Amino acid sequence: MTQHEPEATNISSASTRARIEMLRQQRHRLEQGGGPERIARQHQAGKLTARERIHLLIEPDTFQELFLFSHHRCTAFGMAGKEMPGEGVITGCGSVDGRQVFVAAQDFTVAGGSVGEMHADKICQTMDLALKCGSPFITINDSGGARIQEGIDALSGYGRIFYRNVLLSGVVPQIAIIAGPCAGGAAYSPALMDFIIMVRGSEMFITGPEVLKQVTGEQVTGEELGGPEAQIRSGVAHFIAENDAEAIALCKRLLSFLPSNNLEDPPDRGDGELRFYNDPVLDTMIPDDPREPYDVIPIIKRIVDDGDFLEVQRGFADNAVIGFARIDGSTVGIVANQPTVMAGVLDIDASDKIARFVRFCNAFNIPLITFIDVPGFLPGVAQERGGIIRHGAKMLFAYSAATTPKISIILRKAYGGAYLAMCGKDLGADRVAAWPSAEIAVMGPEAAVNIIYRDQIKQADDPAAARAEFVRLYRAEFASPYVGAGRNLIDSIIVPSETRRYLSLALASLRTKREFRPQKKHGLVPL
Ligand code: HXC
Repeated sequence: MTQHEPEATNISSASTRARIEMLRQQRHRLEQGGGPERIARQHQAGKLTARERIHLLIEPDTFQELFLFSHHRCTAFGMAGKEMPGEGVITGCGSVDGRQVFVAAQDFTVAGGSVGEMHADKICQTMDLALKCGSPFITINDSGGARIQEGIDALSGYGRIFYRNVLLSGVVPQIAIIAGPCAGGAAYSPALMDFIIMVRGSEMFITGPEVLKQVTGEQVTGEELGGPEAQIRSGVAHFIAENDAEAIALCKRLLSFLPSNNLEDPPDRGDGELRFYNDPVLDTMIPDDPREPYDVIPIIKRIVDDGDFLEVQRGFADNAVIGFARIDGSTVGIVANQPTVMAGVLDIDASDKIARFVRFCNAFNIPLITFIDVPGFLPGVAQERGGIIRHGAKMLFAYSAATTPKISIILRKAYGGAYLAMCGKDLGADRVAAWPSAEIAVMGPEAAVNIIYRDQIKQADDPAAARAEFVRLYRAEFASPYVGAGRNLIDSIIVPSETRRYLSLALASLRTKREFRPQKKHGLVPL
C-alpha cells in the first residue's frame, strides 16, 4: 500500500480547516467507544475491546471502518440524543492473510453492545457487502442482547440479521466468535452461521439461569448452562479458545482452509507437485485383533500435509472425527470413525455432526476423504426413540447429494447401513480404496455366524470351536475386501503405507470432476 503526500495548497479556508479538524476530533471521540472507565472494566473482565479484537484479526492498515457515525433514533426511556459511539458495534472490511473479509465486532463498552435498529442495520449492510463481494463474514459477539429501550425495532433488527445469515449461507463462509454474553434469541444468528468459536468465560443460552430457576425450578450456573464446554457438548459450538487472542488466531487458521466464496476453489498452497511418500508406520497401525481399538487421528495426521489437521467439534460425538487438512497444498475435509470411542459406532449426534460437515464441504468445493471403520449404527431404545433413523438418514442424504470429489478409504470394519452412510461406492463415492484389514459385510462376523450357522454350531461336538471356525471362514471368504473389489465396489486394495500416494493421485484426477443433478428448488433433507 502506498500513500501519496498531498501537495500543499493555499486554497483551504479557515472554515474548511476547522471542519476537517472537527471531523478528526469526532472520529477520535467515537473511536474511544464507551470511554476509559468502561474499557478498563472490559480489560478487568479479561476481555479485549472490539477495536483491539479487530486489530488482532485484520492486517495493519487494511481495515476500513464503515458507519462509524451511525446514531440511533430512539427517544423512549430518556434515550433522546443519548450518544452511543458507533452504535455499539464496529463494522468494516479488511485483509486476513491477504484475503478480504467483512467483520462486525460488538462493543460491550457501549450500552453493553446491545442491538438496536441502527446497530443491526450496520451489521446487515456489512453482510450485504460480504455477499456481493464474495468475502467471508465474521462476527465477534459480546452483547447484552436486544436493546430493551428500542423494543420491536431491536427485534426487527435481529430478524434482518437472521434473514441475511440464511442468504449468505453456502455463498460465503460465516464464522462467529463468541467473546462475551450471547443470550436469548441473539444466539440464533451464530447458530445460523457455519462455525462458532467460544472464548472461555463467554455464554450462549436461550433461557438464562435466573429465568430457568423461576420457570422450571432447575438451578444451574451460567457456565454450566451455556459456557463453552456446555455448548461443545450440545453440538452448538465448534471450538473453544482460552482467550480472545487465541479465538482470533483460530479463526484465521480456519479461514486459511476455506475459499472466500462458493464460486472459488479452496486456497492452494502447493506448487503443483504431488508429494508422494511411503509411510511404513501406517502398515502397523491397525491391531491384529479386530475388536481392539486404535486412535484414528494419528493415522490422519501421518497422511495429510505436515501432520496439520484442524479437528472440528472435538468434544461432541467423539465417536466421529471431522476436520480440515491439506494434501499437496489443497484443502480436504476429513471424516473418520473413531474406534477408541464406542468402537466408532454411528449414533444420533455423530450422524448430525458428519452430515452438517459434509454439506459445508460440498457447498465450498472442498473434497471429502472418509476413513471408514464402523461397526454399525448404535443399537438401543434411546437411540430409536431419539430418531436414529431420521438422523442417520441425514448422512445418507448429505453424502448422496454432495457433488464435491468424494474418496473413501475402508480401514477395517464397514458393516451394514453404516458402510453405506460413510460414503460407500453406491452413495456416489468417486474412488473407494480398502486396506487389507477391511471387512465389509451386512453385520459383524460374530453376529452373522450365530444366525446363518445356528444349527451347525448347536449340533457341533465343540460349539465354541465350531463358531470360531465359522467366524474365520466368514471373515476370509465373505467379508474380505477382495469380494467388494471383485464387484468393482472397491477400485483399489492398497498397502496402508501407500495411502498418501493413492490420495494424491486420486485427488489430482478428480480436480476436473463435474457432476450434474436434476434441477429442483431444493431436496428435502430429513431435518
Ligand atoms: C439495553 C443494556 C442491555 C440491553 C446491557 N445493557 N444489556 N442496555 N438493552 N439488552 C447496558 C446496561 O444497562 C449497562 O448500561 C451496560 O449495558 C453494561 O451492562 P452491565 O449490566 O453493567 O454489565 P454486566 O454487569 O457485565 O452484565 C452484562 C449482562 C447484563 C449480563 C449482559 O447487562 C444483562 O443481563 N443485560 C440484559 C440482558 C437481557 O435480558 N437482554 C435481552 C435478552 S432477550 P449502563 O448505562 O447502566 O452502564 C433478547 C431477545 C432477542 O435479546 C430476540 C431476537 C429474536
